[in-house]
Amino acid sequence: MGRLCFSKCRPSRVMGWLQIVFGGLVIIVSMSSLFRFYNAGFFLHNEEICRHFYGVKNVYEGFDIIALQDRVGEVLNRLENLQDKLELTVQKLEKNKEILDKTNITKLEYKKYLEEEVIRPLYSAHIALRQVRLPRLEGIRNSTMKEEPLINTFVIEEIRKYITPKENRVGKVNIYGTERIYNTIGHACVLYKKELEEYMDYDIGSYCEDDWNVAQKLMLSGCDPLPRRRCLTRASKVYQKPYPINESLWKLPDDRNVRWGNYQCRNFQCLSSKNPKRGYSKCSGCFEMEKEKLKWVTNSSLPIDFLISDFLKIKPGEIRIGLDCGIGTGTFAARMRELNVTIISTALNLGAPFNEMIALRGLVPLYVALNQRLPFFDNTMDLIHTAGFLDGWIDLQLLDFILFDWDRILRPGGFLWIDRFFCNRKDLDDFMYMFLQFRYKKHKWVTSPKSKDEVYFSALLEKPPRAI
Ligand SMILES: *[C@@H]1O[C@H](CO)[C@@H](O)[C@H](O)[C@H]1NC(C)=O
Ligand SMILES: *[C@@H]1O[C@H](CO)[C@@H](O)[C@H](O)[C@H]1NC(C)=O
Ligand SMILES: *[C@@H]1O[C@H](CO)[C@@H](O)[C@H](O)[C@H]1NC(C)=O
Ligand SMILES: *[C@@H]1O[C@H](CO)[C@@H](O)[C@H](O)[C@H]1NC(C)=O
Ligand SMILES: *[C@@H]1O[C@H](CO)[C@@H](O)[C@H](O)[C@H]1NC(C)=O
Repeated sequence: MGRLCFSKCRPSRVMGWLQIVFGGLVIIVSMSSLFRFYNAGFFLHNEEICRHFYGVKNVYEGFDIIALQDRVGEVLNRLENLQDKLELTVQKLEKNKEILDKTNITKLEYKKYLEEEVIRPLYSAHIALRQVRLPRLEGIRNSTMKEEPLINTFVIEEIRKYITPKENRVGKVNIYGTERIYNTIGHACVLYKKELEEYMDYDIGSYCEDDWNVAQKLMLSGCDPLPRRRCLTRASKVYQKPYPINESLWKLPDDRNVRWGNYQCRNFQCLSSKNPKRGYSKCSGCFEMEKEKLKWVTNSSLPIDFLISDFLKIKPGEIRIGLDCGIGTGTFAARMRELNVTIISTALNLGAPFNEMIALRGLVPLYVALNQRLPFFDNTMDLIHTAGFLDGWIDLQLLDFILFDWDRILRPGGFLWIDRFFCNRKDLDDFMYMFLQFRYKKHKWVTSPKSKDEVYFSALLEKPPRAI
């Protein structure tokens, strides 16, 4: 590298020197592309495992990782030296005013130029290079055999970084008592490699694409939990402050508080059940507050519809927190809130802004798909209410896992309120067995015909205390 001489030389020479620096950056960038390429050969020291997971074709025999690592070390050192020198020069420039006064570029402009155009990119190149994760030469840690191969199925650097386990800083113990943190993604992500890589291909720190629908599609396809991203999510440019809680519960929110780009509708009125092009099918009518106001507080013509007041009378004051699993706009939670019961409502944005709607009403939406174990601890909830999504389509074994998970989070004496479950008449016995297997106390248990072939079923069940 040429000798540094800012304080003595003319701008043309400075520019020449900068060219060398940028040349270096180009080398660095191409180096990091090299790593991406060759990292596919990660397991060349452990071919057996590699064969097991990926077959032999991905092993690049003969690639000298040690040499590559030495090379990176060298580049890192040089970068560090360069950075020091540049910063020193800026300091010197600040002291020696008159040198640059003669030229057409002012000293201040020069300093700014160096700081913004040279030091900052150099610094980020430095950081980026440090974050390139090289294969470990010592072999694979016992515990990471499972996920380290996964890293090498991805090409996009951001997702590789994301799923690489993050070791605690040297000598530190984390609050969880683990040596490292695993950022996880659902294993089904591997099936959606292209979409996931698209999703993770962004400029760090800049705006994300308006792609929540891509994210949701991945979630619903089993790529769940999704990786976090280091880009800024977009928001409505004209976001209005939400209505106060005494108004928000029963009022359609301000249209300006939703980004409508990925929906068929462009405002809340359009989501009305009267509109055949509303873009969603489940819970039609649930964006009409007049209809919603009737639910669970007025006697319906069907015996399967229970009233909240009747339910709360079973154990006055004992129902305080719960979960509403279903598809809707949070009306159950709104009613319960008025009665001082806190309900979290699961919601997916299936064709309409359900999450935004619930949140703008002043309630808590929980954005989860069916794929996941619920993020609540055992024996914590007073109530699980479910309406609108559990019905005859569901695989019995899937339903079984879901019911056991609900049982897990319900506290002893807590309630499972199955609201308007429906299925084919001939399947009813199978489903009944599912619900009965837990030996809950039956407070209400009602079936009612839905159509010629289908039946409705509602139940109010209490989880018993368990001796063990
Ligand atoms: C400043 O710029 C003018 C024209 O752009 C040029 O004639 C002059 O030589 C420059 N001065 C210095 C010191 O470079
Ligand atoms: C894996 O762990 C076991 C016991 O914890 C140890 O005996 C073995 O040597 C370890 N293997 C590797 C490759 O570190
Ligand atoms: C809601 O509460 C605010 C004060 O907290 C009050 O000014 C406003 O009038 C109330 N709105 C309604 C509809 O009651
Ligand atoms: C519902 O009907 C029952 C009797 O059928 C009656 O006692 C009760 O008051 C009614 N509740 C409401 C909210 O109309
Ligand atoms: C809810 O709590 C508030 C404040 O504690 C109380 O004033 C109100 O009466 C309660 N409402 C019901 C229905 O219990």
